[in-house]
Amino acid sequence: MLLTMKPDGSPYYANLSALNLSPGWARPEPSMWAAPQPKFKPAVWRFADARKALDASHNMVPADQTERRNLIMVNPIEGNTYATTRHLVAAYQCVMPGDKARTHRHSAAALRLVLHGKTGVYTVVNGTRIDMLPGEVLLTPAWCWHGHANETGETGYWIDFLDIPFVQLTEAMFFEPHPQGGLEAITGTGPTPMRIPSREALGPGGDAKSVEIAKGVMPTIALHLIRQPKGGRVALPKVTANAIYAVVSGKARFLAEGFDETAGVGDVVAMPCWHAHAIEAPEDAVVFKVSDDPIFEKLGLARSV
Ligand SMILES: [Fe+2]
Repeated sequence: MLLTMKPDGSPYYANLSALNLSPGWARPEPSMWAAPQPKFKPAVWRFADARKALDASHNMVPADQTERRNLIMVNPIEGNTYATTRHLVAAYQCVMPGDKARTHRHSAAALRLVLHGKTGVYTVVNGTRIDMLPGEVLLTPAWCWHGHANETGETGYWIDFLDIPFVQLTEAMFFEPHPQGGLEAITGTGPTPMRIPSREALGPGGDAKSVEIAKGVMPTIALHLIRQPKGGRVALPKVTANAIYAVVSGKARFLAEGFDETAGVGDVVAMPCWHAHAIEAPEDAVVFKVSDDPIFEKLGLARSV
């Protein structure tokens, strides 16, 4: 909607303002527009940079707050201090040898993509120990208890993805530390649907493929694994949903208007809504896609061009 008038400082407008009323014919900014005008930008983060910074955090994080040993990928737009895209946040996290992170739960949904670690680096979800091995996706849907530990001599690294910015918008945020304190007791180690190895989900072979994993498990987040052989390319249209990509193996080149970044294992790319983009594979590549698509589908706001 075009603005044709501006408040002129007359007593009329001053009086409206004192009544917390705003004239619809002289808004300071439009409230509707013809098509999405995303404020968030395509952006890239490099695992190598984050890993160095996480390693240097060794003495900076109090021993009882090791669940916060993470580096949040803040989209570089004015005024933003947290979100990676409109509704999701991603963070690099590590768990150092001997770390034990307190079990807690929250109304925000979370998941992890493991980048580096070996058996003995584990997360505990609702009492079940799940070892964290590279290439695995681990789910902690809303209100599931979760904490983690590292009993190995090597630091483990992963990427967290959460819908915290969306839950903040709704103001339906709840958080609770486990009543036992510390890391919750392990009551099981068996197979769990909360652990999804990417290699198994994609199956054998190296053909181009996109599979959705954990469909419907988290009401706000959709997860896809995209495999492209060397030389492959996938083109994605403008959509109302927002995506965050992370490279699981190989290399991937992300292209959008004014954006051209080649990403390696553990690197992350934010692709906000309404950005047509392409993913090319300069070598065999697997890319993990985390999107807020279910929010738009459920609310009747999903559109593409
Ligand atoms: Fe958490």
